[in-house]
Amino acid sequence: MGTVSRRQVLLGGGALVGAGMIPAGGLMSTAFGEEIPRPDYMIRAATNENPWGPSRVALQAIVDSIKYTNQYGGDRRSLVSIVAGMNNLPDDHVAIGTGSGEILRAAGRLVRMDNGSVVCADPTYHDLVRYAERAGSEIIRVPVDPDTKHVDLDAMHKAIRRDTRCVYLANPNNPIPSIIDKYALRDFVVDVAKDRMVFVDEAYFEFVDNSKYATMMDLVRDGHQNIVVARTASKIHGLAGMRVGFGFAHPDLITRINGAKTGALNVLGINAAKASYLDEDFQEFTIRKNRESLDIVEGMLDERGVRYVKSNANFTFFETGRDVVELQQAFRQENIMVGRAFPPMTDWLRVSMAKPEEMRYFVQAYKKILG
Ligand SMILES: Cc1ncc(COP(=O)(O)O)c(C=O)c1O
Repeated sequence: MGTVSRRQVLLGGGALVGAGMIPAGGLMSTAFGEEIPRPDYMIRAATNENPWGPSRVALQAIVDSIKYTNQYGGDRRSLVSIVAGMNNLPDDHVAIGTGSGEILRAAGRLVRMDNGSVVCADPTYHDLVRYAERAGSEIIRVPVDPDTKHVDLDAMHKAIRRDTRCVYLANPNNPIPSIIDKYALRDFVVDVAKDRMVFVDEAYFEFVDNSKYATMMDLVRDGHQNIVVARTASKIHGLAGMRVGFGFAHPDLITRINGAKTGALNVLGINAAKASYLDEDFQEFTIRKNRESLDIVEGMLDERGVRYVKSNANFTFFETGRDVVELQQAFRQENIMVGRAFPPMTDWLRVSMAKPEEMRYFVQAYKKILG
């Protein structure tokens, strides 16, 4: 990779992409109506990554940091300060992990250490829940609303037992890209967190553009002792492979979470994240491109009358009437990796947003496979 000038660094990755310095991707654009040729690589639409990342500034930070990889760790404190400052929190309210997944698993471990059960929506993201379950905790899974597929807070409230030590909420959820109404969520979190940890996973927070949505970070700021909010550098920052994520909570809970972690960050991830969190242009660029890709896919689903949940994130989830394992194979033949099966919704498919031209090819493949 060539060197990036200071001005370019200040301009950010988005500006560089806009100036055409990052190749548009492997797919050739075709005239309207013409068949799009099969790409000679696998399109990654399976794991909710950012197809545009890392930004140029993050890449430059990685290049500049390689010479420090003889050292253990890196300057975690300054990254914590940047992220804490952005959320108007003191540094001692932040735990840093090898991905937010490490924070989730640490919370799962704390639940097990307290001999507690976990209440979560079904389906939802697996990391905290699966870790606690494998460690021996009971998991109380509360089905999403059968019609809207939204998280059913009332049912979750009813499912809480005396031994429940954690209620886990991903907002937006995953694999269903729905959000929870901000007023209902706030009341729920404040009430439930009186007696147990409430873990609000906001991995896709930056993608949300919905007046009904709100982060719960201000509850941490207000001093609530049992609330954790998680964020990640894996999604909007395109740094999934670098493994950097955060938990925000009261300092006493942060101390417990830090005590339950087992990973260790490295200098490349830390310095890439430091650069990326300061690069707003790249985040805006990603949001714009993600919207373009979603419009292509959701437009096609609307046209065909397919049932789906409108996305508040960087993936879509729609009904297929077919077994997803079979569909995965069929899309793989077309060089597209799509999401796995998410029981109990095994005929709904999760498709992550790749670049717009790749999603146009996905639409073509969809029509071939699903009609
Ligand atoms: C809701 C949710 N939380 C957390 C994660 C974990 O992300 P990471 O460990 O890369 O920060 C993911 C990843 O897909 C996710 O979907």
